[in-house]
This record gives sequence, C-alpha cells and structure tokens, in this order.
Amino acid sequence: MPELERLGAFLETLPRTPLGFFPTPAHRMPRLASRLNAEDGCAVDLWIKRDDQSGLAVGGNKVRKLEYLMADAISKGHQTVVTGGGFQSNSVRQSAAAAAKLGLKCVLGLHEGYLRTEEFSSSGNVILDELLGAEIRVYPGLSSVECIELAAAELTNEGRDPYVIPMGGSNALGSMGYALAALEIGQTLSEDELPQAIVVPAGSNGTAAGLAAGLAAIGSPIQVVAMCVDDMAAVTEAGIRRLISEQWELGLPRGELRLRVADHALGQGYGIPTDDMRAALRLAARTEGILLDPVYSGKAFAGMLTELRSAEGLGTLQRVLFWHTGGIPGIFPYRNELTEH
Ligand SMILES: Cc1ncc(COP(=O)(O)O)c(C=O)c1O
Repeated sequence: MPELERLGAFLETLPRTPLGFFPTPAHRMPRLASRLNAEDGCAVDLWIKRDDQSGLAVGGNKVRKLEYLMADAISKGHQTVVTGGGFQSNSVRQSAAAAAKLGLKCVLGLHEGYLRTEEFSSSGNVILDELLGAEIRVYPGLSSVECIELAAAELTNEGRDPYVIPMGGSNALGSMGYALAALEIGQTLSEDELPQAIVVPAGSNGTAAGLAAGLAAIGSPIQVVAMCVDDMAAVTEAGIRRLISEQWELGLPRGELRLRVADHALGQGYGIPTDDMRAALRLAARTEGILLDPVYSGKAFAGMLTELRSAEGLGTLQRVLFWHTGGIPGIFPYRNELTEH
C-alpha cells in the first residue's frame, strides 16, 4: 500500500490534462479462451484491457501519454503543437484530436510510410487528421523524427513557437501516462483477477516502458511482455530501458522491473503483414467482436497466441491480459493486404 500511495503522490506532482475516458474497461475473452482450450489444450484465463476505447477520436494508447504532454504544452504557454509520422500514424491522429479538444493548433509532418499504395496515403488515419483540423505538411522520403524536426523548424521560422510532441508521444513525460495506467489495474480488477503477465505491443516503447516502470514502482509481480512490432528485441529492450531510466530521473519511484521483450511476431518488419497477424485479426473479431489493427495490436495479439498455444512463455501461465492499444483506423488502408494467403 505505501508503494501505491508513493507512485500516486509522485504522479500527482506532474500537470495532467484529462482527455480520455478512464479507467478503460477490462474484461474476459471467454469464447476465444474456450477456442484455444478446444484446439490447443490451453487453459488460460484470458483478459483484455480496452485502451482502444480510451475515448478520444477512436481511442488508442496515445491518449494517456497526451494527458501529460498537452498539460506540459499548455503550462509552457504554447498555442501550437507539432508532431509527425507516417500517413497512418495513430499517434498523430490522437495528437490532432487532443489539440482540437483543447483549442490548440496542431501541425503534422507526415511521410508516405512503408506501404506505398493509394489507400495508404488517402484512407484511414489521414482522413481523420484532416477532419480534426490538423495542418498537414507532407515530406516525402523523410523519417518520422525528421518530419517532426523539419515541421518544428519551419514553424519556429514562422514565429509560431511550437511544442514538440515526440514520435509516438514516447518521451519520459509521455510514458508517465502508462505508469499511471499501472495503478488502474488494481482499481479495475479484483485481487483474484490480476494477471501474471500483461502483453503489449512495443513500437516507440513508451507504453511498455511506462507500464513496466509503474508496476515496478508498486512492487507488482505482474510481468510486462513487450511484443516488438518495429525493431528486433535487443534494440527494443534497450529503448524501453532507456525510457524507464529517464522516467526514474524525473522522479518516478524505482522498483524491480519484470519485463520480457519478444520479437517472434514481428515478421519482416514494421507494418509488413504476417499470416499470423491476419489470423489473429479474424480470430479476435469472430470470437469476441474485437477489432485489432494490422500494425500494432494485431501482431502483438498474434505473438500472444503463438505463446499460449505452446507450452512456453505465456503458455505456462494461468491468467494473461492483453492490453489493446487501439489503431482501428489502420485497418482500412490494409484492405487489400488482409486477405488470407
Ligand atoms: C495502435 C498502437 N498500438 C501500439 C503502439 C505502440 O506503442 P508505443 O509506441 O508506446 O510502443 C502504437 C504506436 O504508435 C499504436 O499506434
């Protein structure tokens, strides 16, 4: 208990602007669990935490990070925020929504991304960015980080003093949103519903870092299993640990980390579909009516299913919780890639 209070008290010291509907629901996936039991003899008690329902413009995991980042922008007097990513970035869409809700201007530096199809540059998230009133600047050939830097430099030259939201909202401050989320687990689940492991996708790493650091701060035995969707495990783990150290430097109470990073669901790389991802999207949709996205939650879910079906990793546990991080608009640009091969 003192550890819970210590984490809560630290997080209270940071300005936070409410943006989402929290706590998000957590519930069992009974039809999926019984399918796994019937087909693979897996007896897991399977749960899902619904950050895809976090309440701001189709929801997703960035809302928690933006509660801290936007409060920082406002407290420093900025009227314009800038961020960037690919045309299908969920992070930029949620940043645009947060800015709209708070009456701030939002500028997005976008690049064409990895799937160079007509759908990719014209459907899904990018439609919503425009609808949400963001000013879009397109920089073909640049990376997400370069897009953010260039857009920020242009805005500074224009005298607009932008607040920079890092790629994926993943700096130490943004990641505090997921340290706070660690407290929510005990608020929404009873003692005998707590999972032994939480599975989460790892892209820019703030979600896994914040959760692992938050759980460590309260001395929780729950393990965070970060499923890589962007880089290989060694790079991802180094990134997560770097963010955790930066959170500690900001004053987040330390504790023993329980973190495992796995890259067996990554396939050939970021955004490149895998057959396991396609199968995971169908299984979640057809057993539970839950939509996963092709880039993040779908691959992480596929990685979870692989382990649950084997007698290794998550397959050795009684209770597992999948943390759904959203990304639903990303389904639409993949319409031609989602047919099973
Ligand atoms: C839907 C979705 N899930 C997961 C992630 C990965 O979270 P993080 O960047 O904090 O690792 C992202 C990041 O963009 C995302 O959009």
